[in-house]
Amino acid sequence: MTEKSQEAVEICRTVADLRARVAAWRRDGLTVGLIPTMGALHAGHISLVDAALAQYDRAVATLFVNPRQFDRPDDLAAYPRTEEDDAQKLGAAGAHLLYAPNAHEMYPDGYATNVSVSGVSAGLCGGDRPGHFDGVATVCSKLFLQSGADGAFFGEKDYQQLQVVQRFVSDLNIPILIHPCATIREDDGLALSSRNKRLTAVQRAIAPRLYEVMQGAAQAFGAGGDAAPVLKAAVEAINAAGFDSVDYLEFRDAVSLTPLEKAGGVSGGQAARLFAAAWLGDVRLIDNIPV
Ligand code: PAF
Repeated sequence: MTEKSQEAVEICRTVADLRARVAAWRRDGLTVGLIPTMGALHAGHISLVDAALAQYDRAVATLFVNPRQFDRPDDLAAYPRTEEDDAQKLGAAGAHLLYAPNAHEMYPDGYATNVSVSGVSAGLCGGDRPGHFDGVATVCSKLFLQSGADGAFFGEKDYQQLQVVQRFVSDLNIPILIHPCATIREDDGLALSSRNKRLTAVQRAIAPRLYEVMQGAAQAFGAGGDAAPVLKAAVEAINAAGFDSVDYLEFRDAVSLTPLEKAGGVSGGQAARLFAAAWLGDVRLIDNIPV
């Protein structure tokens, strides 16, 4: 049982400090769970800390707004930076350490290595954000190797990211266990995201319709048949609800992420999922649900 505190969590900023802390815990026979984040923490992140504390002796969160996973400089510049508040929230949640390196610590002069995962990175959020998942895979592999944690916690809200991480961890034999955690939602169904704060009151009222329409489509898939007409009707419903545009609404295999044409046509009884990304003004919301 970890004591919760009103104090901000301790912060370390270098690989050497992080390794020293983890080494000391290891000497005491303690296990370590990692929660990679880019900050602007909300209840979804804190649920990952709770999950880490339930399974490991020590919980280390990371905060690094990773420039390599942004394809637009304005998006990187606009990303919320709330380190002090994040450290308070982590302290209150009972996390043991926050690793918050600067860009030079993560990518020193001369840095030249890229981790690139094919297959699961293609399409969906990888389709319209070139290099995004290379950036995610590169920084996550560094965070895993820098920390030497036993396990790492990822929300299913970023389901494609989770598949990318699981793929490279397996392919590169990185000794860390990846723990997928269920998406945390508001009472009206909207998936928690740091971007939700940027919605106007009117947009916030429209936002939960994405999940609602997806649930309707998932039910329609239960009846079998071609996926295309169900997806077309759902895109129309999302637009009619007041979204400005739909980047994608796709029905895919839950593991390989290959697009599926037929509901009920999933090979070997394997699970399928529905994936969506849609815009409200300049806020892009994503969601995914099992079918
Ligand atoms: O999901 C995120 O916040 C980021 O993509 C991650 C996993 C922390 C890597 O920068």
